[in-house]
Amino acid sequence: MELAAELLGARFKNPVLLAAGTCGFGEEIQGVVDLGLLGGLVTKSVTLEPRRGNPAPRVTEFRAGMLNSVGLANPGARAVLAEKLPWIRDHLDGLPVLVSVAGHRVEEYWEVVETLEPGPGFVGFELNLSCPNDARRNGLPFALDPDALLRVVSGARERTRRPLLVKLAPNTADWGPVVHAAEEAGASALTLVNTLPGLLLDPRNRRPLLGAGAGGVSGPALRALGVYAVWTVARMTRLPILGVGGISSGEDAAEYLLAGASLVQIGTASFWDPRAPARVVDELRRFGISQGVHRVSELVGAALPPPEPEMSDPAGTRDGMGASGGDSGVIHG
Ligand code: FUM
Repeated sequence: MELAAELLGARFKNPVLLAAGTCGFGEEIQGVVDLGLLGGLVTKSVTLEPRRGNPAPRVTEFRAGMLNSVGLANPGARAVLAEKLPWIRDHLDGLPVLVSVAGHRVEEYWEVVETLEPGPGFVGFELNLSCPNDARRNGLPFALDPDALLRVVSGARERTRRPLLVKLAPNTADWGPVVHAAEEAGASALTLVNTLPGLLLDPRNRRPLLGAGAGGVSGPALRALGVYAVWTVARMTRLPILGVGGISSGEDAAEYLLAGASLVQIGTASFWDPRAPARVVDELRRFGISQGVHRVSELVGAALPPPEPEMSDPAGTRDGMGASGGDSGVIHG
């Protein structure tokens, strides 16, 4: 099966990228993850000034996934321009790289984009408007505020000719206003979803498990939300979508593609197993072949609705819920 995808003016040798915050700037995971087998990567989010990040522990695990509050630790835009981007240019041999951008203020996003724009080695920017761990914004990310999102993306658009991706949050009942704001502001693509705000306590000492208190939930718990978000948003926009959240197998990746994602990103699974991203690529290829798929693009947006109820059970009584009980059989959105 042909896995390559042309998108955002770049050629991705396969649709599997490493998600922001899981691979540093590539250098940090060189020798641990075989980057040559992957479609691309998204860097750690870059802020204008260096950030030390949140107090430890920054990451904890639970049965359904992981909770993190790293606090956007990064070396700052000027160091990324001087050191990280040249390293990417010199060592990643044409691997499409997206630079994730974060900030406390609307203008900080613009300043980071302006600072990095002349740099080498990357295809475009992913604006991280959905970090749940940015305490100084009182827990309300730009991604949940259409007016703020419009300002951030419009200003960034004026400062770069490169593709601009907008990373959205999972915790909304209605993606419409932010998706339309992103379109109006000139976004090139959407990334869905970031982590979901969460909290875990140690019941013995009654304190949060993370040094910062609350954090963002990732891993298997996020997959159903992420697929739902992609499925829903794909029906309201023509912008390409990058799907992320809980992918740990080729079939998980296929699920996101079927829901409407053109590319996918892997995060938590690569913490648990650095070989997981390459395995996902291999499993996706095998899955496609087993399904008679020739090109990965054939999967994009090809999800089907639930089957019609069988006529032999018109009232839907076989599951004991009756015609009016439980799920109506419609994929909402
Ligand atoms: O805390 C962090 O660095 C996480 C960022 C995010 O989820 O966007």
